[in-house]
Amino acid sequence: MKTVTAVVIGAGDRGRHVYGKYALEHPNELMITAVAEPNEQRRKEFQKLHGIPDDRCFTGYEELFGQPRLADAAFICTQDGMHYSPALLARQAGYHVLLEKPISNTAEECVRIWKDCTHGGEGQIFAICHVLRYTPFFLQIKSMLDSGMIGRLANIQYEEDIGFYHFAHSYVRGHWKDSSASSPLVLAKSCHDLDILRWLAGGPVASVSSSGSLLEFRPENCPPGAPEYCAWGCPSAQECPYNAVRLYQWFEPANFLSEIVKLEDPMHDLEHALFHSDYGRCVYRCGNNVPDHQTVGLSFFNGVEAQLTITAFSSKITRHVRIMGTKGEIVGDMARNLISYRDFSTMKKTKIHLDVPAEGHHGGDRGLTGSFVRSIASGKNDLPTEVSQSLESHLMAFAAEKARTEQTVVNFSEFVQKYGLSL
Ligand SMILES: NC(=O)c1ccc[n+]([C@@H]2O[C@H](COP(=O)([O-])OP(=O)(O)OC[C@H]3O[C@@H](n4cnc5c(N)ncnc54)[C@H](O)[C@@H]3O)[C@@H](O)[C@H]2O)c1
Repeated sequence: MKTVTAVVIGAGDRGRHVYGKYALEHPNELMITAVAEPNEQRRKEFQKLHGIPDDRCFTGYEELFGQPRLADAAFICTQDGMHYSPALLARQAGYHVLLEKPISNTAEECVRIWKDCTHGGEGQIFAICHVLRYTPFFLQIKSMLDSGMIGRLANIQYEEDIGFYHFAHSYVRGHWKDSSASSPLVLAKSCHDLDILRWLAGGPVASVSSSGSLLEFRPENCPPGAPEYCAWGCPSAQECPYNAVRLYQWFEPANFLSEIVKLEDPMHDLEHALFHSDYGRCVYRCGNNVPDHQTVGLSFFNGVEAQLTITAFSSKITRHVRIMGTKGEIVGDMARNLISYRDFSTMKKTKIHLDVPAEGHHGGDRGLTGSFVRSIASGKNDLPTEVSQSLESHLMAFAAEKARTEQTVVNFSEFVQKYGLSL
């Protein structure tokens, strides 16, 4: 198969550590031939890693898409509020597009992207980065459901454990701490999970409810005498689980977050970040507003009831699922790559251990990038999901946020009608 060429728009965490990494690990499949990145240091490092000539390195996507088409595909990895323009320009220039999730941080713009970027363009692929669809874990569960082995699906209990250190990094100190400037938590973190729930349920949702709040990371919970930055010497440093010095310097599970902090300011080291960047701040005074625990209730037209729990307060970053059918049940623990199934008629329990290497999104990052690249190389789009399905699950997230903030139950058909859509 031919080697697919691609441009990367935004050489930040995803651009560099997911798509850039895939190209370095699979040089016969994917080659990055151009980059747009305003941060000079990041751009130069990315250029060096991929051996990109100077005249193919740009300070912004506007400049890159002003050139004649430079590759087969474009990976769009800018922040949530900056997806529409690069996606549209890439599409108009004839690139196959892989757009990071969320499609956008407003429902209106998600719909605009779907309308403006995904119609026409014969043979041009436009995909949304819903990585969980490509994980062996959920592929296995979906095939078990489709086989009918648990009878008719009745309930799904789904838990998204963000991990206390991951939450502190991304949703208290980092990019997604302010929902008005980025995205609501249920969209930023859980649009993947809503997409999976809609997929497993096998039909559209009828109503959405939600509740949740910011319980812990508030000024009134700040320990007495805590300084603005943990590294200044906090009297509660020993017992505070969110102590930035511990998290970024010593706490092994957070190593990947330290890499992100270093990438944010490649001119300086981690110690500098602990004293000067938001990543060093006391978690109780970060000006954050997204909830740290939330539940979403979903009633599907086909009678399936699902409950999603999203929490900052877990020791691991994982997802648990319990699926109840009329003839059996399935229980899954994503971090352990373990799925068990019990048949009600025999009460026999079967355990399935999946052999998945420890890598981005439990194999989802690699699965998605590989499928996208192979679809382009073969000229046959075999991606398992349509943008219209991603749009539907994004709108479920906006409906959930409306339900949470307005303390109401959202009729989903009426909700999508407001955007000129129907289920
Ligand atoms: N699929 C997933 O599971 C997943 C996981 C994490 C993040 N994301 C999403 O991926 C996107 C990127 O996240 P990230 O963590 O890599 O962010 P990031 O901030 O690390 O990277 C974004 C990059 O875009 C660059 N940029 C800004 N303006 C630009 C312009 N005009 N042209 C080109 N580049 C420009 C920034 O300088 C930055 O380097 C976000 O939408 C995020 O929500 C998806």
